[in-house]
Formats: sequence, C-alpha cells, structure tokens
Amino acid sequence: MSKINILIVDSDKGWWIDIINDLKKRGFEVAVTERGADALREVGQRKYRAVVMETNLPDINGIKLSERLKEKDRSISIIFVTECRSIENSIRAIKGGANDYILKSSGSRKSLKKRVIKSIERALKKGQLEALNHKVEDEKDNYLTYKELTTGPVQDYNNILPDGSIFVYRGIVGKSKKMLELFRMIEKISSLPSTVLVEGESGTGKDLIARAIHEMSDRRMGPFVIVSCPAIPGTLIESELFGHEKGAFSDAARTRPGYFELANGGTIFFDEIGAMSKEFQVKLLRVLQEKRIRRIGGTEEIPVDVRVVSTTNSNLDELVKKGEFREDLYYRLNVIRIVVPPLRERKEDIPHLLEYFLKKYAAMFNKNVRSFSDNVIKILQEYHWPGNVRELENMVEHVVAIIDNKEEISETDIPDFDMYKIPRNSLKILVPITNYRFARDKFEREYLKSVLETCRWNISEASRVMGMTRQGLYKKLKRYNLVNYGDEN
Ligand SMILES: Nc1ncnc2c1ncn2[C@@H]1O[C@H](COP(=O)(O)OP(=O)(O)O)[C@@H](O)[C@H]1O
Ligand SMILES: [Mg+2]
Repeated sequence: MSKINILIVDSDKGWWIDIINDLKKRGFEVAVTERGADALREVGQRKYRAVVMETNLPDINGIKLSERLKEKDRSISIIFVTECRSIENSIRAIKGGANDYILKSSGSRKSLKKRVIKSIERALKKGQLEALNHKVEDEKDNYLTYKELTTGPVQDYNNILPDGSIFVYRGIVGKSKKMLELFRMIEKISSLPSTVLVEGESGTGKDLIARAIHEMSDRRMGPFVIVSCPAIPGTLIESELFGHEKGAFSDAARTRPGYFELANGGTIFFDEIGAMSKEFQVKLLRVLQEKRIRRIGGTEEIPVDVRVVSTTNSNLDELVKKGEFREDLYYRLNVIRIVVPPLRERKEDIPHLLEYFLKKYAAMFNKNVRSFSDNVIKILQEYHWPGNVRELENMVEHVVAIIDNKEEISETDIPDFDMYKIPRNSLKILVPITNYRFARDKFEREYLKSVLETCRWNISEASRVMGMTRQGLYKKLKRYNLVNYGDEN
C-alpha cells in the first residue's frame, strides 16, 4: 500500500522535529516546506491527504493558502498550528473548511504534540469517509432526493450516497424517525453549556453521538478528551483526571496535567460512566460543582472550563436505586438526556447501514462487491441485533473480507446465516378474538414454546428467563402437552 503523505508548511522547521519523527514512526510520509508557493507546487505534484501549517508564512497568508489548496484538491484536510491568536483568523479558517486551529501557545510542547497528531489522525479518518461519500455522490444523478433531504427538518446533511438512500449525519447513518429526532435534538442542545448523558445499549453509536455534540458546539475548536471509565484502573484514575505535580508519588518524575486540564475550553467525555467507582464519584461531583481542580501533590486550584458529556449502557437509574451510583452526581450529569434507540427499534435504518458499511469495507479491502441480495436484507432486517450497529458492522466487515470476486452477497456468503433467521424475542402470536380464558391459554402455550425454542429446550435456562421454578415450568409443559414437543420438532 502506498504511504499517506502529509505536508507541513512553516518557516520554523525546528518547532516540528518531534512531531515529524512521531508521524514517520506511525508510517506517514512527511514533507516540509517553508513557503506557500512551494506548498502549492507540492500539492500539484503529489497526493497529500493533509496539510498542517502556520498562518504566518513568508510569502502568503496561510488562510489564503488553505483556500488555494482546497481549490486544487477539495478532499485535502487542513490543520492550522499557529502563533496567531486572532479569533477572526480562526473563524475564517474553520469556515473555509479547515479541520482544526491549534495555538502553539496553548499548552506544553508535549501536550501540543499529542494534540496535533490526534488532530491529523482525526482529519485523515474523516477525510477517508468523506472521500468515499464524494466518490459515490459524484456517481449519483438523483438530485431530487438530495434536494428533498436537504430541505427537510434537520439543518445539516453532510453526506448522501447514491440514489439518496444513505443518510449520514456527522458520521452517523440514520434515516428512521427516531434517528432524525435524535439529530434534531443534538442540534438543539449542542451549544448549551449543560452536561449531557447519552444512554443506550452497547453498540448503538453513543460514542459517535457524543462526538457529534462536541463538533456541533461552540467548543468544537477546543479539545475533545475521551475518558474510558472501565479502562482506567481505580488506583490511577485520580492522577489521570487531575494530573500530578513532580514528586507527588514515587513514579511522578515530572509534572503532568490530567484530562480535565487537557480538556480545558473543550469537552470531556466520560465513556461508560456507570463503571466509575463510588470513591471517585465524589471527586467528580466536586469538580462539577467548583469548576476547578487540584493536581495530586499540588496546592494551586486550577480553574477548568469544560463541558461534560457522558455515556452509559447500564441503566444509571437502577444503579442509583441500588445505591451504587450517587444520586447527586447523577442529577448533575443528566441535565440533558439523550436516549439512543436499539437497532431493533429502527429497522428502517438496517438497509442503509448495510449499504454504508458495505461501501466502506469494499473500498478498504479493494473488493468488487456492491450489494446484498434482497432476500438477505429482508432477513437481516428482522434479526434482533443484540449487539446493535457494532454487531452489524462487524458482520459486514467479516463478510466483505472473505468474499470472493462477486458483486452481490447472498445467503451462502454469510457464515452461520441461519442464526439471523430466528427473530428472537419477537413473539408473533395471533390471538383469536374469543373468550378470555381460551385466548389466554393459547397465548401461554405459544409463549412457552417460543421461549423454549429460543433457549433450545434447555429447561433450566427457560425457567430462569421466565422467572419460574423448573417444577413450575414442567407442570405447565405437561398441561399444554409440550413435554416431548422439543424432541419431535
Ligand atoms: N448510526 C451509525 N452510523 C454509522 N456507524 C455507526 C452508527 N452507530 C454505530 N456505529 C458504529 O458502530 C460501532 C459502535 O459504535 P459506538 O459509538 O462505539 O457504540 P457504543 O458507544 O454505543 O457502544 C462504531 O464502529 C461506530 O462507528
Ligand atoms: Mg461506547
């Protein structure tokens, strides 16, 4: 695979040495020029995916240069890293399509390096998806649908794939009523200072939504700092979040800022906040109330201006009731609540997600495959997707990775396809309009059958699911003549 080219434009080359080394280590090809004219020439000659630059250049204003570069290649990502504090400049830069505007004076060398690299990686990732979308958008001639969609209720439509069918809102695919409502909600709340709690089953896209909230907010120029609560060991969480002074404990060779300081001016994102220990909940509550932190071993109170967005897949309400999560913290985090519906409650999105991921992975693995057969789509749409979009994405990735030279995916191309055929948990029972006792018996028999089938006639498991004793269940099976039913069917 050819390497990804990144161009740095700055007359102060020395400033970049660490970053260049780091980028090279990550496998990027890096070129550096001092003047805008050279940058324009470079971009004319080679494909650069990202240009990282100063606004103060010896021959041309950086913002102007970025506009000229975008004219040459609209897919190029631009990141400013500059000494220029002008707000006007930063607004013009972002309006002109720059991905980021980072001030050289906004942190230590080390934290800046991290931030620049992160910003480049994020821009590349975004660029990759956009390129994919542009590619198919260029192919499409159905402007009507596009127009219909762009005049709809949601203000910001980023990408629509061929025939206008795929609808991507800031990287989130969704066209169902529930998702459109959610997008509208994101738009309404993103610029408010309030904390947001994003709730939903695992794999529903909570991370994407948290990020969209940040990107839509007026903090988008600031950092987005992710704190994965289950991943941080309890013993480290305090120093990770608040930082420490040199010598605060035996490993603290030098002063280090924590996540809160790094997120200053931006958003701090607590992923899976239900996993946070009670001890730590108290500390977090205090930061939210006082809006200042103290590094471990430090005496100075450092003010922090951050917006808190958290996600949870567990029902935090329940944890609060059980006394495992502090009620006062819960109310602080939950000023705005966004509930992401599970995929089985928005089946209309399934075909779009399938198409979207198919395009993504076909491009990534360089395959010819273009579609799923109608029959496959129909079955997958009825499947209950316990792992939600993550499960669906993994399935598509897997299928595309192993498929041979073929355009359409049929049943036989999907490993264990039969598994998708049983729409578990969906009980479709036609209850006759008749007297109550008869209808109830019919329902009960079908219910027992359905749960037992799902549990593959494992009586212990079925009785647990139904909340009955084994004996109780057995009695019912006898009554409905279902005792040997599983063996025969
Ligand atoms: N609506 C969506 N459109 C596109 N990709 C999605 C969508 N929802 C989830 N994904 C993808 O599914 C995976 C899981 O999403 P994630 O946000 O990590 O879920 P969660 O945090 O709710 O467990 C990610 O790869 C994400 O990009
Ligand atoms: Mg998550």
